[in-house]
Amino acid sequence: MLVVGTGTMGAGIAQVAALGGYRTLVHDAAAAQVDAAIRRIGDDLEKGLARGKVAVADRDAALARLERAPDLATAAASAGFVIEAVVEDMATKQTVFRTITRHAPGDAIFATNTSALSITEIAASIDAPDRVIGMHFFNPVPRMALVEVIRGLQTSTSTVERTFEVARRMGKEPVEVNEFPGFAVSRINAMIGNEAFYMLMEGVASAEGIDKALRLGLNHPMGPFELGDLVGWDIRLKVLEHLHATLGEKFRPCPLLVKYVRAGRLGRKTGRGVYEYSASGELIRASADTPR
Ligand SMILES: NC(=O)c1ccc[n+]([C@@H]2O[C@H](COP(=O)([O-])OP(=O)(O)OC[C@H]3O[C@@H](n4cnc5c(N)ncnc54)[C@H](O)[C@@H]3O)[C@@H](O)[C@H]2O)c1
Repeated sequence: MLVVGTGTMGAGIAQVAALGGYRTLVHDAAAAQVDAAIRRIGDDLEKGLARGKVAVADRDAALARLERAPDLATAAASAGFVIEAVVEDMATKQTVFRTITRHAPGDAIFATNTSALSITEIAASIDAPDRVIGMHFFNPVPRMALVEVIRGLQTSTSTVERTFEVARRMGKEPVEVNEFPGFAVSRINAMIGNEAFYMLMEGVASAEGIDKALRLGLNHPMGPFELGDLVGWDIRLKVLEHLHATLGEKFRPCPLLVKYVRAGRLGRKTGRGVYEYSASGELIRASADTPR
């Protein structure tokens, strides 16, 4: 197994791959990112140990399976399965895929963790488009069970089957999704967050009321405003703009959501979104100018 890009997602992916028993090579364009990822994985496994979720022997074995791979071409030469988690940029991903596919064994599979780019377009830039697939993990990877397995136009059925096996061995539940904007989860999630903002704008209920209603009425662990504040409304808006452009009118971003982004009210990361947060990140209350 080779994981390329060891930021937020790549580190988590490398962790579950190593826990699943794979010798896991980790590569990043910035060597410091690999060191940081291995440190983070160690810390997270330590927490798992404290909570009784990970056994000492499993932690030690997982850490021993992680291997730094400073040279991408050399690493690719011994990788039967590659998961790419570099920045969300088509040109960067295509360059990485070209290097990997030039050196990898003839039956290797190339998965991308892209959130929104076209798997078909990434695959079209290399010689083996039938062995390219999407593996859409969720953050934080060690704790989120789902992997959306995204089939591009030319992805073969055996590639899908092998990807399912790998996902399961990593302790995940795979779901097959055909490539379409927003896949399954982001599309529904964007719709819920947008609709919640329309309801706030129309005065249907307060932000706290809408959040509480969805937590208690639909058993969602967080309400749509709590979740949007956590993810960041700027990111939400980008997803909605993409879905609006590709899927049409029903994804038109709510004007009130757009106004929040224009005001810099992005959520927890700016200290204020729909809610206000203390310096230590505690949710205090709905902001004074949030409609109620
Ligand atoms: N963060 C999320 O919640 C989330 C969820 C699902 C999918 N994704 C997707 O996962 C991918 C990675 O996202 P992230 O949040 O981990 O980003 P990140 O910025 O935390 O990490 C990206 C890493 O890629 C490295 N990188 C950049 N160019 C590279 C190259 N040419 N070769 C090797 N490494 C390179 C960077 O040094 C960095 O360490 C993106 O495609 C993103 O859309 C993110």
